Amino acid sequence: MNISPNGVLFNKDYPNIKTSNEFYNRALNLIPSQTQTLAKGTTQYVEGIAPKYLLKGEGSHVWDVDGNEYIDYNMGIGPLSLGYTYPRVDMAIKNQIDDGITFSLMHPLEVEVAELIREIIPNAEAVRFSKTGADVTSAAVRLARAYTGKEKILCCGYHGWHDWYIGVTPRGMGIPASTKDIVNTFEYNNIDSVINSIDDNTAAIILEPVVFEKPKDRFLQKLRELCTEKNIVLIFDEMWTGFRMDIGGAQEYFGIIPDLAAYSKAVANGMPLSILTGKSEIMNLLEGDVFFYTTFGGEALSLAAAKATILEIIEYNVPLYLKQIGRQLREGYNKIAAELGLEYSRCTGYDFRSMVTFDSIAGDPLILKSFVQQEMIKHGILWSGFHNICFSHTQDDVDYTLSVYREVLEMLENAVRDNSVESLIKGRPVQPVFRKTGDFNTKPVCR
Ligand SMILES: Cc1ncc(COP(=O)(O)O)c(C=O)c1O
Repeated sequence: MNISPNGVLFNKDYPNIKTSNEFYNRALNLIPSQTQTLAKGTTQYVEGIAPKYLLKGEGSHVWDVDGNEYIDYNMGIGPLSLGYTYPRVDMAIKNQIDDGITFSLMHPLEVEVAELIREIIPNAEAVRFSKTGADVTSAAVRLARAYTGKEKILCCGYHGWHDWYIGVTPRGMGIPASTKDIVNTFEYNNIDSVINSIDDNTAAIILEPVVFEKPKDRFLQKLRELCTEKNIVLIFDEMWTGFRMDIGGAQEYFGIIPDLAAYSKAVANGMPLSILTGKSEIMNLLEGDVFFYTTFGGEALSLAAAKATILEIIEYNVPLYLKQIGRQLREGYNKIAAELGLEYSRCTGYDFRSMVTFDSIAGDPLILKSFVQQEMIKHGILWSGFHNICFSHTQDDVDYTLSVYREVLEMLENAVRDNSVESLIKGRPVQPVFRKTGDFNTKPVCR
């Protein structure tokens, strides 16, 4: 009899999620959509099988409210770059708590962390702090408009919940048409879709330098050249690439320097902190009439956590470790899929963050994903199709995960052949990820 790391018997049973369901039922009709973070809610998991609430974490493992243990490959949807309850970071937070959390004047950590950021992020001539990713992408957009005297924004991917961005998505209710009219999207790796959308009123191009698809045909260089030529501010949204892809993020990895860059997630190992970096010439507008201030911007626990996290990332070259561990998972998955003849599934992206995809030739990709997720969860792996690697994922975690992949993908292949995948799913399947990947509303040049 085999026991998985969550104590659930292999091939016998799924985790008991009774307490998860009790909390969920209390949230219904009280917390609209039940979650504060879309990717943590029930739409991304097989309802009825997956746990819904987590209670604690340690390293790369988490425990749900019913006591089941899982290897976590979501890592808080990005923030846990080092791992849960990471001693150096937790000690820094505890020491800071003894002195206070939020103060009536500025705190020296604002200066110390800004200096550290300037050392490692190529474009960080100037640095500001805030709390959420949307805070700093929105501040960057406002700065770009102020600096250029223009209004239109071109974007690609996800950049947060604020009006300027969400207006381009299907969930744009409540946003004035005038705001929607001045934001367009473009397609990653399609320089013509960018060129066709630029007009004399274009203030900024904002994008994640990479998501899963690699830049092709000098795409990022071409964007840089285009922006310089047309007086457009280039903004990198480095929520995922920052402190992970390289110590200096994607800017350092690709050697392309954006005018402004926005960071959050990995920088404080779970504490809420976001960072705006950029050229002094633009950032210094924040000393005048471009307003960007918030009560908790200089909150000291998060800054203490960021200082400890950044020092650890530098000292142990964490991005290199993420790459090494992540590569084993990505390549291991693809090797298993090839050996089993699964032509419809592969693991793509970069080693620090990869994604498993399913092709529709074998059936509805969401059904295939739901089946795999259900079986991964049964084997003690909290999985939603991504490998968000952290510094605490161990060789044992990887070896175990690959052994589970072999077993689950073999089951998947048999089910695909029998045409029985859907009937084997024991709950409500996962729903699409909310992210703009098509249907781009590029507009022709206006004048
Ligand atoms: C690329 C990217 N930009 C911006 C954001 C917004 O960050 P936040 O949710 O902290 O506001 C996210 C959040 O997931 C993100 O993935």
